[in-house]
Amino acid sequence: TVDLNGRHYLRELDFTAAEIHHLLDLAAELKAARRAGTETPRLTGRRIALIFEKNSTRTRCAFEVAAADQGATTTYLGPDGSHIGHKESVADTARVLGRMYDAIEYRGFAQDTVTELAAHAGVPVYNGLTDQCHPTQSLCDVFTMREHSGKPLEEISFCYLGDARNNTANSLMAMGSLLGMDLRIAAPSDLWPDPALVAECRRLGQDSGARFTLTDEVEEAVRGADYLYTDVWVSMGEDHARWPERIARLLPYQVNAKTLAATGNPDTAFLHCLPALHDRRTDLGAELAAEHGLDGLEVTDEVFESPASLVFEQAENRMHTIKAVLAATLGRK
Ligand code: CP
Ligand code: NVA
Repeated sequence: TVDLNGRHYLRELDFTAAEIHHLLDLAAELKAARRAGTETPRLTGRRIALIFEKNSTRTRCAFEVAAADQGATTTYLGPDGSHIGHKESVADTARVLGRMYDAIEYRGFAQDTVTELAAHAGVPVYNGLTDQCHPTQSLCDVFTMREHSGKPLEEISFCYLGDARNNTANSLMAMGSLLGMDLRIAAPSDLWPDPALVAECRRLGQDSGARFTLTDEVEEAVRGADYLYTDVWVSMGEDHARWPERIARLLPYQVNAKTLAATGNPDTAFLHCLPALHDRRTDLGAELAAEHGLDGLEVTDEVFESPASLVFEQAENRMHTIKAVLAATLGRK
């Protein structure tokens, strides 16, 4: 039996497939209970600090709502809200918060920072996104695929298109390899993931049965895929000046009606961690659209708004899956 009590949640590859399946089953149970109005709090009186050195809508709200549903309280420390990294070291911050809180969530830049927090906090630490990975997102993503398709993960294929060096891509690769999925990455070769991570995922695949395709050919990558997944082309913390170059490199990897048709699978669904640049209704969307004459960057509005798009169900699932992580690592027996 799986027991995750007291564990950190820092990166997918710290976990076994059985442990991830345990979290997915727990998330399904918690989602059903919330819908039925029969949820019972397992975190009564727990206190969780939420450190965000980058902005967030979903991750912050998912942690706050999941904690509240389960009887825990949270403190939000935003990008300007604490001394961490400026006037006080990560290790000192960890030792202070660890004496006041039962767990700490951290979103920031270097993976080393969240590892350092975990080393000194004395309480569970959760990675709410770093430049290297986004493990609460990938947990939600495989949960959403499993829930929507009704198939075991080993029988599900997905293709990630776009910037394959970013946190979301790294996390999906790790999760898919661990869980024995059919995973494909379509990206220009200069935006392929770190070879060390690719090698680690291929090794994992030998045990899990995962099939792993890394290619710059969209048609080959998407063929038959159950899910197409993309993410923003310039991530938080990257230089805004990269946009023109990324648009030029990544436009052939945009998820549009043609890409969807190229799967040859009428049931292919679309996923995106969000936020998505699919129209002009944001400052950035309007600016990029005006400069480059495009409506929609990594995904077109047509696909985003189509019946194939599961993005809002997926966004809701952030909350249920984060709740499972909290309940499993911090829950009262
Ligand atoms: N998907 C995701 O992490 O969204 P936020 O940046 O809004 O938390
Ligand atoms: N790759 C994106 C994910 C946002 C949830 C970023 O880091 O900005």
